[in-house]
Amino acid sequence: MAVAGAVDVSSRTSPINNRFQELKAFDESRAGVKGIVDAGIKKIPGMFVRPSDELAGDYPNSDTQFKIPVIDLGASVEKRAAIVAGVRRASETVGFFQVVNHGISASVLDEMVLAAREFHELPREVKMEFYARGNSRSVQFGSNFDLYQSRSANWRDTLFCVMGPDPLDPLDLHQACRDATLEYSKQVKRLGTTLFGLLSEALGLKPGHLVSMDCAKGHTILSHYYPACPEPELTLGTSKHSDPDFLTILLQDHIGGLQVLHQNHWVNVPPVSGALVVNIGDLLQLISNDKFKSVEHRVLANHFGPRISVACFFTPHLYPSTKIYGPIKDLLSEDNPPIYRETTVKDFITYYDSKGLDGNSALTHFKL
Ligand code: OGA
Ligand code: NI
Repeated sequence: MAVAGAVDVSSRTSPINNRFQELKAFDESRAGVKGIVDAGIKKIPGMFVRPSDELAGDYPNSDTQFKIPVIDLGASVEKRAAIVAGVRRASETVGFFQVVNHGISASVLDEMVLAAREFHELPREVKMEFYARGNSRSVQFGSNFDLYQSRSANWRDTLFCVMGPDPLDPLDLHQACRDATLEYSKQVKRLGTTLFGLLSEALGLKPGHLVSMDCAKGHTILSHYYPACPEPELTLGTSKHSDPDFLTILLQDHIGGLQVLHQNHWVNVPPVSGALVVNIGDLLQLISNDKFKSVEHRVLANHFGPRISVACFFTPHLYPSTKIYGPIKDLLSEDNPPIYRETTVKDFITYYDSKGLDGNSALTHFKL
């Protein structure tokens, strides 16, 4: 069996056949990017190197003072209108904000980051049992879901856990991350419900509107592990993308590297201790008829690591629901006709996954 350490690192310009062999060896190693790092390398394998036209055409980093808004959810009830206004402003423009005083304790956050790290640092033989490609299992370890479609692979491994609508069997989670993931899942779901209330009001709807549309009905927890990278300028932790969900709540550690595309510049989302990052997903952009923006973002690779982040995607994912989502009727008017056709979440996700992170929005495919 091929091992990650056997991946050919001598050729940096992979001819097509070589590249396929390299990808296959990586996939068959079932050891992820961490497997390559553990093998001890000084240069990254060619499959991770971004094509030169992509590097040359990249957007510049922001040199302005623009900052991702931080919203204090702990403010008193009388300040609710101000919170809603802050959520509306952020959701209509940059698509991202951070929240503080969100009701999830620092110890629950710390335990979740630690548990994610412990899973990824389990012996390779143990982790391999969880390795899968596609959407066959509700708990799966993998690296580069779009490995065979993308132009270059990302410097990241991910543990993917579908927490609902069907409850996860706790025994499907490895003991190293079981308790922390279950506790965080419960609390982040509650926070998601609160945020959907604020977002509903920010759209001018009744507070319960988005929850009644089942936006909080399912969530998936993705524990990401970004190993230290010897040549971070040549690759990315996560390529530019927008998220295939209604809403994402992201817990990141202190390392940094998350960037948001704002006015054709990459803006850093700096780690704020105790805060959670919130961003609008494609499905909320679709049902809000473009009022809220699902903005592209990416993660840089880094000499320092590992970086850990835990994303909670609010989406029923591939749950076999026939519920149809299109622009919310109450938001439409003669001046604001629907921009998107209706779809099921399952059809949307299937399309998103088939396309991979190719730099284009999946939403385009659903435009009328
Ligand atoms: C994601 C994502 C950012 C991060 O999971 O979709 O963008 O910081 N994650 O890991
Ligand atoms: Ni994302």
